[in-house]
Amino acid sequence: MESLHPDVQGILLSEKDIQDVVSRMGAEISRDYAEKNPLVVAVLRGAVVFMADLMRAIDCPMAIDFMAVSSYGEGAKSSGVVRIVKDLDTKIEGRDVLIVEDILDSGLTLSYLMRMLSNRNPASIEVAAFLVKDVPGNRPAVTPRYVGAHVPDEFIVGYGLDFAERYRNLPYIGILKPEVYQK
Ligand code: PRP
Repeated sequence: MESLHPDVQGILLSEKDIQDVVSRMGAEISRDYAEKNPLVVAVLRGAVVFMADLMRAIDCPMAIDFMAVSSYGEGAKSSGVVRIVKDLDTKIEGRDVLIVEDILDSGLTLSYLMRMLSNRNPASIEVAAFLVKDVPGNRPAVTPRYVGAHVPDEFIVGYGLDFAERYRNLPYIGILKPEVYQK
């Protein structure tokens, strides 16, 4: 049993839960991309922890690359207008691209990215989202091909996910205490 950070009110996914989810997703991806040499793309920064685990759970040939985007505005909700801060180094024309995300909320970040990358004529473009946030009455703008787990509409941190750049290093997915972000 891992010790709980004092700012976290509960664990949604333990390290063991995460390992199980990642193994299952890695097996699905390895099966589907066995002959495709996919380019697996992580969107910085939140996805790096998941990417590092997921790529080691994939046992077919693959390559990696990274993108960094920033949403315009400082609001907690993404607007869907994103600026490319770091573009891919790899040409994706004719490639099978798999975008790796830590969490899908509105899906606006991803839908923008997918539109932009589709213009470069990849053979295919799919999404592996570790978490999908379930918000009543809200349907994400993107449907991921691979989903790790669904989480409730709470402030979630750990395993790459931050609040004000903190907590990304927690090895589990936890719910942040409201008094921490309401201060
Ligand atoms: C988070 C997450 C997704 C996006 C999801 O990134 O990593 O990219 O928000 O939100 P959406 O589905 O509503 O668009 P964030 O902008 O917090 O950057 P980070 O990865 O550096 O934490």
